[in-house]
Amino acid sequence: MTRVALVQHGDVAVILSDNPPVNALSTDVRVGLVQALSQAIADPTTKAIVIACNGKTFFAGADITEFGKPRQPPILQDVIGHIEMAPKPVIAAIHGTALGGGLEVALGAHFRVAVPTAQIGLPEIKLGIFPGGGGTQRLPRLIGPIEALKLILSGDRMPADKALAVGILDQVEEGDPVQIGIAFAHKILAEGRRAIPLSERDDKIASVRADSSVFEVEAAAQLKRRPGQEAPAACVESVRLSFTVSIDEALARDRVRSQALVAGDQSRALRHVFFAERAAAKLPEFAGAVAPRAVRNVAIVGAGTMGGGIAMCFTAAGIPVTLIDATEQGLSAGLERVRNNYATSAKRGSITQSEAGKRLGLISGSTDRDAAVGADVIVEAVFESMELKREIFADLTRKTQAGTILATNTSALDIDDIAAATDRPEDVIGMHFFSPANVMRLLEVVRGAKSGWQAIATAMEVGKVIGKIPVLSGNCDGFIGNRMVAKRSAQVDRLLLEGAMPRDIDSAIKGFGFAMGPLETNDMSGLDIGWSIRKRRGTPFAIADAICARGWFGQKTGQGYYRYEKGDRTPRPNPDADSLILEISEKNHVNRRTIDRAELIERMVFPLINEGARILAEGIALRAGDVDVVWINGYGFPAWRGGPMFYADLVGLKTVVDRLDHFATQTGNADLRPAALLRALANKGASFAEWDKDRLLAQ
Ligand SMILES: NC(=O)c1ccc[n+]([C@@H]2O[C@H](COP(=O)([O-])OP(=O)(O)OC[C@H]3O[C@@H](n4cnc5c(N)ncnc54)[C@H](O)[C@@H]3O)[C@@H](O)[C@H]2O)c1
Repeated sequence: MTRVALVQHGDVAVILSDNPPVNALSTDVRVGLVQALSQAIADPTTKAIVIACNGKTFFAGADITEFGKPRQPPILQDVIGHIEMAPKPVIAAIHGTALGGGLEVALGAHFRVAVPTAQIGLPEIKLGIFPGGGGTQRLPRLIGPIEALKLILSGDRMPADKALAVGILDQVEEGDPVQIGIAFAHKILAEGRRAIPLSERDDKIASVRADSSVFEVEAAAQLKRRPGQEAPAACVESVRLSFTVSIDEALARDRVRSQALVAGDQSRALRHVFFAERAAAKLPEFAGAVAPRAVRNVAIVGAGTMGGGIAMCFTAAGIPVTLIDATEQGLSAGLERVRNNYATSAKRGSITQSEAGKRLGLISGSTDRDAAVGADVIVEAVFESMELKREIFADLTRKTQAGTILATNTSALDIDDIAAATDRPEDVIGMHFFSPANVMRLLEVVRGAKSGWQAIATAMEVGKVIGKIPVLSGNCDGFIGNRMVAKRSAQVDRLLLEGAMPRDIDSAIKGFGFAMGPLETNDMSGLDIGWSIRKRRGTPFAIADAICARGWFGQKTGQGYYRYEKGDRTPRPNPDADSLILEISEKNHVNRRTIDRAELIERMVFPLINEGARILAEGIALRAGDVDVVWINGYGFPAWRGGPMFYADLVGLKTVVDRLDHFATQTGNADLRPAALLRALANKGASFAEWDKDRLLAQ
């Protein structure tokens, strides 16, 4: 199928790609680009060439489905080489998003023009690879190696106006991208401007070549923030080549490095996450059968920490919110927090002042629950009390029409008990946001026994609209994420009892790739929350309970597992907690031992896998990939390890089972015995990925 057309506009030839939905640079597009280019170069009437795309966007990147498969010629590097060496000026005319290979194609052109809504970026790092189509060589020659490195390592998108300011774009203009490209071609032809390939430019790299110390300082600082990850190190090495060796040699080395990265575990893990996040938001069982309810306005009951954050999520998507609290005081405190958050964002430049004003304007407050009437979705975020939640839900069902979605943000209460307080359990659902709700991308949509498909579909769809990654969970204690956390917490407490100290635990798991350790995190959220849950459930923890009994609740009381100075959140060693830990071990007649890092990690990560397997077997999560998505987006599991279930496949399920059996015997803790599903898959030599595939085929 021909995906690339050559359209003549007088003396300008327009090469137009048409490969919906995002003009991915798949093999037939690359072939088409080379053919069209050769034709345009050979045609004596053509004086300049414009490369543009049909549809909603310029080339938005490589074709991710071709990753990891044998490469089909022409490879992108060669296509871009052809473009760059064209003896006639080539102009890339950009709309939508020029990402990854798309931006690299544009960097192969001699000039770049774009419409104001366009965005550019090199997001390869997010897939564990690096821009191997020459982006690491040409971008430094355009904007300097340090700026190039920052953009490449961030993987973030840059809006057209900024790209113009830093010199990546030559012109930004409203209108049809093809027409803008043609007009620009006429302008440079009239001015007689020379088409200089970026690979031949030296002006932006000469100073770093003479003295690379500033580059090296920046590179070291950036890598320090990403320990253990291969792709960032490869990006640094590749950008360094832009000013240390010839471009031909650099491109040759990039080819080798890029293939090694694509084949590596880290990139495989990140690609798994990419697809798992998209799959999680889909509901295969009834796809298309039930339309979600249109969500035009939302009410939130409870203007506390979560309520305010949830309100901000909806306003960011332009959806008006009524924020309701029981008291004037609660309401004004909630609104004040939201106002402060917007002010901080505007000051930081993450949103404009006028956008902040617009979003704030979408929130109205009330202390009257009747203000929720007329909303399409009502999210309840009051204190974690079953009695209170049941009273609110019973009242809301009386006040609202059937079909109004009644969602609870509870972290630990039973959705079915809440739904039973209403006469419309089909409209009741859990929408479990994570704190801070306006930042965290995970949304667990918790389906009660009687939740209707419309409620489920609406919660999933509105989750996507507000930029979250919705994952469907069954109703059980802790849903997917917190149920697994509970298993890790139990092990952490036992490890402290057996011989580890708080810093050993946190530093082991951070070495594995988590941004924060479990004990630092608990200190931050407040140790009293877990303590009260354990007391309610009758599941005591030897160490954690002893710490709480002293009134040490973490940061808010100045000490917990760590000690905190006033106004400073840095965890410092807490000798009092350390001696308490030793004392409790002694009291329990435990012979403390040195536990090495590898064992600490296994004891904290393998129980997650074990509980994940139980969650899958019970149908609480639809796919192993969903469990991974929950852990990466809600609990800081390193994305480059693919999530706990993908990691289990990498380690090998047999190894996980053997180690869990070993730990169960060693500690006498039967809960560590491998789950039936985990053992069965391991016995078959199967993986969670295969289990997911079988489930998909069965649907
Ligand atoms: N904080 C978290 O990290 C987190 C994360 C996920 C879910 N949750 C859940 O979200 C819910 C709210 O938690 P939070 O941390 O925002 O609590 P919070 O204490 O900060 O806020 C609760 C708010 O509800 C208001 N409220 C109490 N009774 C009310 C009533 N009858 N009508 C209207 N408003 C009422 C209070 O005035 C307060 O402003 C809880 O169910 C909690 O389990 C919390």
